[in-house]
Amino acid sequence: MRLLEVENLRTYFKTEVGEARAVDGVSFTLEEGESLALVGESACGKSVTALSIMRLIEPPSGYHPSGVYVLRIPMCCRPMNRRSNVSGGTASP
Ligand SMILES: Nc1ncnc2c1ncn2[C@@H]1O[C@H](COP(=O)(O)OP(=O)(O)OP(=O)(O)O)[C@@H](O)[C@H]1O
Ligand SMILES: [Mg+2]
Repeated sequence: MRLLEVENLRTYFKTEVGEARAVDGVSFTLEEGESLALVGESACGKSVTALSIMRLIEPPSGYHPSGVYVLRIPMCCRPMNRRSNVSGGTASP
């Protein structure tokens, strides 16, 4: 079963010196039983990718010009108030 699909995720930040393109077109999938590691040099966007999937990017400075993701968390691992089968959608500004 596919637990996570991320397609063309973009996360940008508006800063005083312009737009910071922290994540710019990331796609990957994660199947049940697999482990996935995001590896890369400092500031390449690993943490911002994770924050984006958890919907923790704070608008209006942080926003998603594009991106679609589907996150399926097994029922047993969900907080009681979030026990639907599938969450996710379009990451939009
Ligand atoms: N709130 C923010 N506003 C502006 N730029 C940001 C913000 N958060 C992150 N960035 C920028 O986004 C880029 C990616 O940052 P991120 O924290 O995802 O890097 P990382 O790969 O996790 O690095 P590290 O290995 O050092 O933890 C960096 O250039 C960072 O400065
Ligand atoms: Mg980090």
